[in-house]
Amino acid sequence: MSAPEIEVDPSPAQLPVPINADGIDNQTFSLQQDVSISYHDDSGYQTSTLSLNSLINQMDLHHEIFRLLLNEKLHLAPLDAPRKVLDIGTGTGIWAIDFADSYPSAEVIGTDISPIQPVYVPPNLKFEVDDAEADWVYASDYFDFIHSRNIAQCISDWEKLMGQIYRCTKPGGYVELSELGCVAFSDDETMAEDNAYKKCCELLNKTMETINRPWPVAGTLKARLEKAGFVDVHEVRFKQPVGPWPKDKRLKQVGAMVMLTSETGIEAYALAAFTRYLTLSVEEATKVIEDAAKALKKKHSHMYTDFYVAYGRKPQ
Ligand SMILES: C[S@@+](CC[C@H](N)C(=O)[O-])C[C@H]1O[C@@H](n2cnc3c(N)ncnc32)[C@H](O)[C@@H]1O
Repeated sequence: MSAPEIEVDPSPAQLPVPINADGIDNQTFSLQQDVSISYHDDSGYQTSTLSLNSLINQMDLHHEIFRLLLNEKLHLAPLDAPRKVLDIGTGTGIWAIDFADSYPSAEVIGTDISPIQPVYVPPNLKFEVDDAEADWVYASDYFDFIHSRNIAQCISDWEKLMGQIYRCTKPGGYVELSELGCVAFSDDETMAEDNAYKKCCELLNKTMETINRPWPVAGTLKARLEKAGFVDVHEVRFKQPVGPWPKDKRLKQVGAMVMLTSETGIEAYALAAFTRYLTLSVEEATKVIEDAAKALKKKHSHMYTDFYVAYGRKPQ
């Protein structure tokens, strides 16, 4: 379960060039220069290289982060030629598109309450508008593989959802749940107790607890699967670096992209949460968020958050 410590890049000169604009000192990272990543276009079939500045889609950027974290894997469950596959809360459908491409003999369904998926997709994939919390119409023992990623804050009744997932999984089939954690860690004490990014994560956790949609911690996903009846359950913890501080090239890229998504994502996500569910004014919430955005760029804070992947098998 415990992931090894990430080796730190000892040479700040190799890190992205710092900027001095808007009072940010040269002890901080910047992503203003081009950092290229492989990115799907709308058709889902091709990849092209875009600069990070062109990437407006947080979900697709997250997909790249998770793909890198999992060493290019789309899942950890030991699948054997799955035929019927379901992706719950598919979002832009990018995972489902990649999965359908990788398993052309599988019939993949991606469901979401929002119809934001592309039209041109692999022929073995279809998207449906569906509320995962409503009663499922799928037949029992139907799917070889059911997948969900980053839907923790969308679900109010996990027990009901897991019951439906279990019913619709074929005996011998697999379910995989993957979710981000929302706790900032550092293994080398480079993150101060009062680090503003850490504090912002804590406040976000507190906020989601008040509406009974807490972020998963270690063991949450495993417990959900076991409680539902799945067996051979495994949970893997990935350390997701915040900022390009790791030495390893792959993790450095992950860290750079996490910094970018956090920069653009905290405000969109946390501002609404803090003002809606806590009693923070817009000014107070904005201050927490701005401080967090500055803190997550600190070169010498080797922070990371967790990404959990858990899978289990329905017994025969
Ligand atoms: C953070 S996004 C994750 C998207 C995708 N799974 C991924 O990892 O790229 C969460 C998605 O869940 C969808 N969602 C929220 N509530 C839902 C529900 N009750 N049933 C199905 N989808 C839901 C949202 O519309 C959103 O697209």
